[in-house]
Amino acid sequence: METFITFEGVEGSGKSTQIQLLGDYLAGEGIPVLLTKEPSGTPIGRKIGDILFHRGHFAMCPETELLLFLAARAQHVREVILPALQDGKTVLCDRYSDATFAYQAAGRRLDPAFVAAANDFCSSRVKPALTLLFDLPVETGLERADRRDARLTDPAAADRFEREELDFHNRVRQAYLKLSAAEPERFRLIDASRGVEEIADQVRGQVMDFINKQR
Ligand SMILES: Nc1ncnc2c1ncn2[C@@H]1O[C@H](COP(=O)(O)OP(=O)(O)OP(=O)(O)O)[C@@H](O)[C@H]1O
Ligand SMILES: [Mg+2]
Repeated sequence: METFITFEGVEGSGKSTQIQLLGDYLAGEGIPVLLTKEPSGTPIGRKIGDILFHRGHFAMCPETELLLFLAARAQHVREVILPALQDGKTVLCDRYSDATFAYQAAGRRLDPAFVAAANDFCSSRVKPALTLLFDLPVETGLERADRRDARLTDPAAADRFEREELDFHNRVRQAYLKLSAAEPERFRLIDASRGVEEIADQVRGQVMDFINKQR
């Protein structure tokens, strides 16, 4: 049974850490799984991501940002996500449409109705069955991301988004919480301020619950 599961949350909330742990666990359980991410889940998306995250691109306007993320999604859905789902795989995706609503509609204050219509077009209305929302104070996430970036080869690795002011990140966090409250059957809210193992246990439990109910 194919399942599309997305990982969402503010910067440094542990999405990439937890998607890897869950992927390893599901593979160990014999569940065919594909891990992917936005916007860089395809070769074209990686190039789009280079433009989006480049910290020199401070002049990028919100409209350009939205359309680039959506262009990457259009490619990703058609080239990677749909074929994997049709192949019977469980697809785990690091950020997807909810990130566009949180970052570009709430964070950048673009018209939510336009964002929704454009996202429907680009995503071919492919929606996750389950979305894990990693929630924590934005300061904590940004500190974690800072420490991570300091370990990278490029010491000034913080991307265009990590450099946004706290207000922006708080608008994103609040928007995610609102999305989650509006669709409680799809979302699982995860307290991401805890330790990696404790969170991984909860993620495994919730995902296995969901998969077992589908079977
Ligand atoms: N529960 C945790 N407690 C403490 N540190 C953590 C926890 N989970 C992840 N980290 C560390 O915090 C940093 C950010 O985690 P990660 O890259 O998984 O977050 P992310 O949500 O994918 O971030 P981004 O939004 O930038 O992609 C990493 O260095 C990671 O090792
Ligand atoms: Mg990440």
